[in-house]
Amino acid sequence: MCPWVAFTGLILLWTDAVVSQVRVSGVVGQSVMLPCTYSTAREVTTMCWGRGPCPLYSCSNELIGTDGHHVTFQRSTRYKLNGLISKGNVSLTIRNATQADSGTYCCRVEHSGWFNDLKVNILLEVKPGELVFHPPLIISGG
Ligand SMILES: *[C@@H]1O[C@H](CO)[C@@H](O)[C@H](O)[C@H]1NC(C)=O
Ligand SMILES: *[C@@H]1O[C@H](CO)[C@@H](O)[C@H](O)[C@H]1NC(C)=O
Repeated sequence: MCPWVAFTGLILLWTDAVVSQVRVSGVVGQSVMLPCTYSTAREVTTMCWGRGPCPLYSCSNELIGTDGHHVTFQRSTRYKLNGLISKGNVSLTIRNATQADSGTYCCRVEHSGWFNDLKVNILLEVKPGELVFHPPLIISGG
């Protein structure tokens, strides 16, 4: 058998086993929180948030990252970790959300050992706020 096919199949297996998918919705101009927590019983560890689904390693388009206790990288002040990081609450808060923030985010908690990382893909949908104009429905009579 072609080894490449076997390898790809294996990756799909791992991906299915480890990735969980969560949906969150927010409103334009408000803060939105993307939940992500892990148990620190085993270890307090590094983690990162990235844009797009969790890749095989690390985070793509990294938004914010921690060393387990403190934020060590932050792309913009709009991205905040307001939870107790060293207690495993690494939920991401995006301030002043825009519709362009809609899409998939990856929360990756980097556990030691191969393929032990906790990977959560979060699908964010930012909806327009109150200021949206709804055209009236015009029903013409006969
Ligand atoms: C994690 O922290 C956030 C604050 O960013 C808080 O709203 C949320 O309730 C916390 N989650 C848990 C499970 O404690
Ligand atoms: C929120 O974002 C909009 C559009 O990017 C900007 O015009 C506005 O000043 C921002 N508001 C705050 C409170 O940062």
